[in-house]
Amino acid sequence: MLWLIWSSVAILYLVESFQHATFTRIDRIFSTCDPSKTIREDVVGDTVDCAITCTEDTECRKFRYCTSGITSCTLYKDGSECMVSSGTCFCYKKNIGCNTTACTCPLGYYGPDCQQIVKDCNEASDRYTDAKALVTIQPDTAKEPFEVGCTFKPSVLTKILERTHFCGTENFNRTLAEYERGFGEGPRHRWLGFDKIMQILNLTHTEMRLKILIDTEFSKSCINWYANFSIDSSIKKYNFYGTPGDMSCGDSILGSKSLLGNAFSTYDVDYTGTNACASKFGGGWWYDNDTECTRSFLMGTMDGSGMDNFWYDLISNGTIMWVAWHLERL
Ligand SMILES: *[C@@H]1O[C@H](CO)[C@@H](O)[C@H](O)[C@H]1NC(C)=O
Ligand SMILES: *[C@@H]1O[C@H](CO)[C@@H](O)[C@H](O)[C@H]1NC(C)=O
Ligand SMILES: *[C@@H]1O[C@H](CO)[C@@H](O)[C@H](O)[C@H]1NC(C)=O
Ligand SMILES: *[C@@H]1O[C@H](CO)[C@@H](O)[C@H](O)[C@H]1NC(C)=O
Ligand SMILES: *[C@@H]1O[C@H](CO)[C@@H](O)[C@H](O)[C@H]1NC(C)=O
Ligand SMILES: *[C@@H]1O[C@H](CO)[C@@H](O)[C@H](O)[C@H]1NC(C)=O
Repeated sequence: MLWLIWSSVAILYLVESFQHATFTRIDRIFSTCDPSKTIREDVVGDTVDCAITCTEDTECRKFRYCTSGITSCTLYKDGSECMVSSGTCFCYKKNIGCNTTACTCPLGYYGPDCQQIVKDCNEASDRYTDAKALVTIQPDTAKEPFEVGCTFKPSVLTKILERTHFCGTENFNRTLAEYERGFGEGPRHRWLGFDKIMQILNLTHTEMRLKILIDTEFSKSCINWYANFSIDSSIKKYNFYGTPGDMSCGDSILGSKSLLGNAFSTYDVDYTGTNACASKFGGGWWYDNDTECTRSFLMGTMDGSGMDNFWYDLISNGTIMWVAWHLERL
């Protein structure tokens, strides 16, 4: 026997096995790249069948039912948003799923009714065994919880920026207010935003390290670490501070042309005077107030439509295909 109430919030009871789950309809984002981890894809009859499959699987935290061509039901391990490339799809996230012995919560939530939320990826790392996941966190000073990409192994990292050549595009030529709020629908092109980054940085007085990973064409990749990473948000200039650590990319941030302590300029709040570096390059950055502006820029386009990302001290100096910035708490 099966009981269910189906609307934007669905409650599903599988009485025979005493399993139940509640689901909420979530928005779809058109993107070709879904960073969420799937469990499997089944062919099922309808949305309810797909929901039953997700209810029965304790690991399932979200499902997507699509009816374009063949009907498909995709079960996900994580991720609160739903990426679809096209077609007619319905997406639901599981708010709580219970069997006879225990309930499982969305990643990041815990407690008997899933009412509590972890503060950061470090706190989440004590709870999950996967190497990475999309997790909802809520630092002390955050009014709302938000989702971040956490890496748990071999060390705990929080993703604050990701750019990729392979999945769609995103406009990075935005206002300071947008750089504060964060933007990027598909997480493959996402700036978490200074507001959230400050909430994560403010959580602790221990040292934070910034890891910058750059992949260039021909599968070359390199990593730079900046120790003692901090951002000064006190007068909304978001000045960049750090100390060069291990580097394999060449230091185009604090090297021969150092951006240390520089304010973050956007086209509407530009600290480079008549050089207007942010308008010229088409994205926010910690530019110098001179005609060269910078030897690195990772807020550009990645599709050839404008000023592309660059990092002049890269060994290979090739086209940048992928970039990720992570924070690590030491
Ligand atoms: C019930 O769910 C927990 C996790 O929430 C799982 O470890 C356990 O195996 C499940 N029990 C049954 C009988 O499915
Ligand atoms: C973070 O700390 C700085 C300095 O202590 C403070 O100016 C800022 O308002 C704090 N930001 C948040 C989001 O709590
Ligand atoms: C980071 O700053 C602390 C305190 O100022 C200092 O002791 C430490 O050596 C610095 N670490 C690096 C790698 O520069
Ligand atoms: C930029 O540099 C010029 C020339 O040194 C200086 O006159 C101007 O005040 C600077 N602008 C800002 C916003 O710092
Ligand atoms: C960035 O946007 C501003 C405001 O719309 C514009 O003036 C500027 O030309 C743009 N820069 C690039 C490189 O597209
Ligand atoms: C990479 O290209 C830029 C721009 O053409 C140049 O200024 C820089 O010196 C080059 N770097 C290397 C390591 O060749």
